[in-house]
Amino acid sequence: MSNLITKTTELAMAVTLTYIKSGDTVVDATCGTGRDTLTLAKTVGAGGQVFAFDIQKKAIFLTEARLRTHGFSNVRLFHESFAEMSSHIPENSAAAVVFNLGYLPGGDHKITTTADTTLAGLETAFSIIRPGGIVTVVLYDGHEEGAEEKKRILERVRTLDSRKYHVAYVSLINQNNDPPEILWITKKAKRRG
Ligand SMILES: C[S@@+](CC[C@H](N)C(=O)[O-])C[C@H]1O[C@@H](n2cnc3c(N)ncnc32)[C@H](O)[C@@H]1O
Repeated sequence: MSNLITKTTELAMAVTLTYIKSGDTVVDATCGTGRDTLTLAKTVGAGGQVFAFDIQKKAIFLTEARLRTHGFSNVRLFHESFAEMSSHIPENSAAAVVFNLGYLPGGDHKITTTADTTLAGLETAFSIIRPGGIVTVVLYDGHEEGAEEKKRILERVRTLDSRKYHVAYVSLINQNNDPPEILWITKKAKRRG
């Protein structure tokens, strides 16, 4: 097995996938180049569904092209903000919601996720995930908006009700160049009997 703690984006997804099974509904809140969307599409399979969002036409185009190349048709793509998620996906229904924050790789660095919108999107994600589901956030604080976004997200998730959620925060603290960090928020499954 490869060393999972060299690249936070891969670690973030590897853990996320353990919460997803074939046939599930999942959300890629920021599809970007479609890399994560494709991984999610493969994992839920033909009987499952991925809802993927991005505010940039270029990202939707890149994601569509990647899915077509790999022959996946189990993804609904929305050229919309993830703030609109709740219009498409019922509460307590998704196995996972994945946020990869920041700007489109190879795109305009000025078009980025912002603290206010991301906080609102996270609240929606907490209600959309089913009991036993996960919200995964990959955070970048190497740019100005990202630093503010990270600060506000951490403040918020620290206060999440510990009877309902577990929150884990991972940072590769000895690495240079501000590598991304990970937040995982899981909703406790209901007890049986
Ligand atoms: C770091 S990239 C995502 C990378 C992607 N996961 C991949 O696999 O390539 C962040 C993306 O978030 C998008 N974005 C920014 N604000 C958004 C919002 N409110 N709703 C949805 N997407 C947003 C950007 O356009 C950008 O494509």
